[in-house]
Amino acid sequence: MYIGVGNGSPWTRVIRSPGGGDNLFLSSIVALDADTGEMNWYYQTTPGDNWDYTAVQDMALAELEIEGEPRKVLLQAPKNGFFYVLDRSDGELLAANPYATVTWATHVDLETGRPVENPDLDYSEKGKWVLPGPLGAHNWQAMSVDEAAGLVYIPAQDNPLFFEMASEWKETGVYKHKPKGWNTGLEFGRLAQVILDNIAEQPTPKGYLKAFDPLTGEDQWVVEIPHYWNGGVLGTEGGLVFQGNALGMFTAYDKATGEVLWEFNTYTSMLAPPITFELDGVQYVSVLTGTGGGDLFGGEPLPPVAEHASLTYSNEGRLLVFKVGGEAALPAPTVRDRSIPKRDLKDIDTVSIARGEIAYNENCAVCHGFLVRSGGAIADLRRVNDETLAIWDQIVIDGLYSAAGMAGFGDVLTRDQSGDVMNYVLARAEEDRLVAAGEKELPQMTWMTGGD
Ligand code: HEC
Repeated sequence: MYIGVGNGSPWTRVIRSPGGGDNLFLSSIVALDADTGEMNWYYQTTPGDNWDYTAVQDMALAELEIEGEPRKVLLQAPKNGFFYVLDRSDGELLAANPYATVTWATHVDLETGRPVENPDLDYSEKGKWVLPGPLGAHNWQAMSVDEAAGLVYIPAQDNPLFFEMASEWKETGVYKHKPKGWNTGLEFGRLAQVILDNIAEQPTPKGYLKAFDPLTGEDQWVVEIPHYWNGGVLGTEGGLVFQGNALGMFTAYDKATGEVLWEFNTYTSMLAPPITFELDGVQYVSVLTGTGGGDLFGGEPLPPVAEHASLTYSNEGRLLVFKVGGEAALPAPTVRDRSIPKRDLKDIDTVSIARGEIAYNENCAVCHGFLVRSGGAIADLRRVNDETLAIWDQIVIDGLYSAAGMAGFGDVLTRDQSGDVMNYVLARAEEDRLVAAGEKELPQMTWMTGGD
């Protein structure tokens, strides 16, 4: 039985494990005897993980020819950006090639089996852009293995994060564990400010569909997608690769060349892997539409990342089934109303807004989006109406909407803090309303400096 193991918390190893060490078995692939539960072997992809590089992504068992010998292997593309080929009987490392842009390490040393970290990107003193970011170069979205061709079709991405140690830690040398909340050890409260301050050096976020040779690290072909959070992949014996992407396109590619053979606009972003099946002699291909997960935080993308379909239209969860010659059509898509109501903010205190920004980023951003710009899967708080504002604390503190997935934060935030968050949300809303009207440019965020 093979298990992929997640990351540690806090993510930052100087806080989590000041004594050093590899922190077994974080970010590892572990083989257990299915009868006894005893460990047969392990392979740690990211010793002393410092970046949230889980190794929980899908694993595939295959037989590949290596130096003329057929070998039974285990294949995984964990978040850290290296594609691992292991002998699945004993865990021997056979290959570890980068399958996306990797900057945290220069390579994996095949002798020691360990990654060689890039000292230039040590962020313990000074913040740095690092690739991959915490969403990984590959995440839950299924890859597809083609044993005959010796290729893997991977939904990969370059999605960097500016890693900056928590200011609390930098200022005091102490990091207090929050029993209910995120404990990353990174600066989350001021993350928007930190990212916007460093946006000029940001490596461009984007997605790829790759036909990748795990033994040589070469790409047979690459399709670039201007948004990074795309769907799982299905490869078929008949020579096709199917993927639904963030832009709403469900596409069949030629497995040999990556050429687009067919595409269908679903008007909804996709994460799920397509499947294919035969029923009464007819072959079908099917996919679930709808997005969410890690991209919630990313929210409405900043250029040059393309806007995804679930934001432009709506995040419509549908099961779509196709056959050759099928004639059903989707209802015409409706474009979302994303206008922001105008509000009078004269009386809002900028100090409260600044406090609210930190509380928002630490508690709300992960679902409602970076800069309060929802990615379309969960309510856009810039657009809340007056009725909702009137019951803000009932929702945010008391849990009025908990049945809809919005838990109350009464055990984490005071009513004053909830009010600060509301002020921050309204201030961001007003700023974006002015940006949309062409009266202001992002990034501004003047309350941070106590300006207007
Ligand atoms: C785990 C994800 C998650 C987190 C974290 C979260 N929310 Fe929500 N929120 C939701 C969901 C789900 C809904 C209800 C469904 C919807 O409206 O999209 C919602 C709805 C709301 C609404 C109602 C919006 C409306 O127009 O009806 C408000 C207000 C709100 N959230 C505020 C907050 C605040 C403030 C925080 C941080 C303290 C927060 N949420 C944190 C998931 C989350």
